[in-house]
Amino acid sequence: RNYSCLLGIETSCDDTGCAIINDRGEILAETLQSQNLMHLRNGGIIPDVAQDLHRKYIEPTVHKTLQGANISMSDITAIAVTLEPGLPLSLAIGMKYAKHLAKNFKKPIIPIHHMEAHALVARMEHDNISFPFLTLLISGGHCLLAVVQDVNKFLLLGESIDCAPGEVFDKIARRMKLRNIPEYSQLCGGQAIEIAASKATNPHIFKLPLPLAEYKDCNFSFNGLKTSVLYHLFKKERFHNIDADKLIPEVNDLCAATLMATSRHLLHRTQRAMEFCHQNNLIPENKKQFVVSGGVACNNYIFNALTMLCNELEYNIFRPQLKLCTDNGVMIAWNGLEKWWRNIDIVTDLNTLDIKAQ
Ligand code: KG4
Ligand code: ZN
Repeated sequence: RNYSCLLGIETSCDDTGCAIINDRGEILAETLQSQNLMHLRNGGIIPDVAQDLHRKYIEPTVHKTLQGANISMSDITAIAVTLEPGLPLSLAIGMKYAKHLAKNFKKPIIPIHHMEAHALVARMEHDNISFPFLTLLISGGHCLLAVVQDVNKFLLLGESIDCAPGEVFDKIARRMKLRNIPEYSQLCGGQAIEIAASKATNPHIFKLPLPLAEYKDCNFSFNGLKTSVLYHLFKKERFHNIDADKLIPEVNDLCAATLMATSRHLLHRTQRAMEFCHQNNLIPENKKQFVVSGGVACNNYIFNALTMLCNELEYNIFRPQLKLCTDNGVMIAWNGLEKWWRNIDIVTDLNTLDIKAQ
């Protein structure tokens, strides 16, 4: 083959992802082996369980992807693999397998930062997004605002000082027992809350705080919001005398209130970041681009609210297609390709990877 093919491997959390893309950024094949059902049954991700499942799935997932693209390892130019951040036990499986392939087939490895990949994958679909651009990354593990100045140059403007919004949605959904509703039984917390919220009639009966309202920075905090929601839930359960697996009648309203309060906080901080970029000339006035990505970006209520803010402040808003917002192998392969083109972080001596991985 006379063009490049990037293999991407992602195992940072609970999905075993693999993809192959060509040097036009076209997806030749992609596989995503989810562990969602197992973790739903366990009431959350247990790192040892996630690692065992990655160990079981990694080889068949990569093989299936190669088969799907109808190519063999010798056709692969380089292997991109998530280095950090994530669950150390999960990350280790992807890295170990990538090194095994690299050694056997004499291919370079390109280590990838999971959050950078979430942001950069927007450039795969929208080739008009140029550096610098502002990004909001919202997922089950992170919440951050950054100016992406280059492929490997991220200026962090703010991040969560406690938990992430997706984590809050998952916890609240579990505590509300949303999974007992058949319609929601296979969904992650964020998805269940989004659907329940769309059925709300009176969300304003629940008052929730605006976190960090007094702080003039771009950081986030979701702990207080989570506690307030759980407090409302507890009070309503007591009031209605609800037992074990029943739901409060106002559950849809509480979901909507949660989503509205989360959006308000995200918007408040994003607006601050946009003002900061303006004051410090971080984003050119004639090309204001905003990328939102990560699993929580799938939420249309949040996306629509951000779109309105962008319209007002004259930013172009971009969101990767939904399957590329949540964890996947494609974004890792794409980030690998962006680094390959620029000759950044291409590791041929596998021993130096151990140093990076520490
Ligand atoms: O990016 P991601 O796949 O994994 C991490 O890197 O964390 O994000 C997963 C998170 C979960 O917490 C899930 O509840 C949330 O994204 N999520 C959503 C939606 N779809 C997934 N949150 C709100 N609304 C959604 N539609
Ligand atoms: Zn992620």
